[in-house]
Amino acid sequence: MSNLSNLILIWYKSHRRDLPWRNTSDPYRIWISEIILQQTRVSQGYDYFLRFMERFPTVQALADAPEDEVMRLWQGLGYYSRARNLHTAAKSIVSRTMANHIAYTDGKKCNSFSETTREDKIFPKTYEEVRALKGVGDYTAAAICSFAYDMPYAVVDGNVYRVLARYFGITEPIDTTHGKKLFAALAQDQLDPSCPGDYNQAIMDFGALVCTPQSPQCTSCPLAETCEALRTGKVDVLPQKEKKLAIKTRYFHYVWVKAGDYAFIRKRTGRDIWQNLYELPLVESDHQLLPEEVMQAIKPQLTEEETPQLILLFQGVKHVLTHRVIMADFYQLILPINTRSFASYHKIKVEQLNDYAFPRLITLFLDKSS
Ligand code: ADE
Repeated sequence: MSNLSNLILIWYKSHRRDLPWRNTSDPYRIWISEIILQQTRVSQGYDYFLRFMERFPTVQALADAPEDEVMRLWQGLGYYSRARNLHTAAKSIVSRTMANHIAYTDGKKCNSFSETTREDKIFPKTYEEVRALKGVGDYTAAAICSFAYDMPYAVVDGNVYRVLARYFGITEPIDTTHGKKLFAALAQDQLDPSCPGDYNQAIMDFGALVCTPQSPQCTSCPLAETCEALRTGKVDVLPQKEKKLAIKTRYFHYVWVKAGDYAFIRKRTGRDIWQNLYELPLVESDHQLLPEEVMQAIKPQLTEEETPQLILLFQGVKHVLTHRVIMADFYQLILPINTRSFASYHKIKVEQLNDYAFPRLITLFLDKSS
């Protein structure tokens, strides 16, 4: 066992976090937790995980659910394609199981199907099958296979990059093809084959709790004596990245259209952020628009006899996503209850808004305004 794995496993014995997706070998539970925890902190993902498992305790339950309901449970977590991919993958696991079952029983009716769909039987069993699920990359496949099946696949996430780069003093950028290969090989080298699941959890917890991005706890770190970055004063500059993210700003002008106690919403389709979530009527631009320009843009939605007044409610609400910043203005428009304007939108009762999944930016606005 390498010095690093040895020390980290000793540390883990007394510092491991007791999390609801640990102490289980159920691959479904582990899969859901790993997808939730991609780009989400444990503290934020915790309650989402419990709610998700309560509503969809099995692959079958998830596969059977309407997509809108899956999205609603995901609301607020962001990166909504993760939820869509989970749902697609659950359906593919179930339909493949059924196809195998029919082939196995030669199409004859047989009452053992419920036995066949037991969770531990239907979830894919090999690394290749797990990796082939929609939305599952190298990291998630390694996490599922090592935690559920104790297979010797090393996880490489942001925590692992950081711990390895600092401990070994590696200045190679982590976001190049060469850097990724180098770190993947090094991580695999460190993996303790006698306990791959524990080792993977240990190095991730160590990165999250001790070897943190800012203010790491070097003074009490059990690796301090042999840490190369600490010896050479490079802790703050490792790991290195080659590319800086180009952050683009988009300007959203939302219009909260009300007609009596009805509101107008629509589903976002198309290949863009927040796909399949709902939103208010939107005017997008590459710069902030004046109220009269927003009015001009929504005119085609209004019937000729209606010339309502647009009221500015909130201006310059900043919403930060990974690759972009959204600057949002929120307007209100009051229409008669029986209006025929905004005919291409869903006209729903304001009290039904909770039944739809919205991006967090809009939920926050609705909480303030309704
Ligand atoms: N982050 C990603 N996966 C995790 C896990 N299994 N435990 C804690 N933090 C994590």
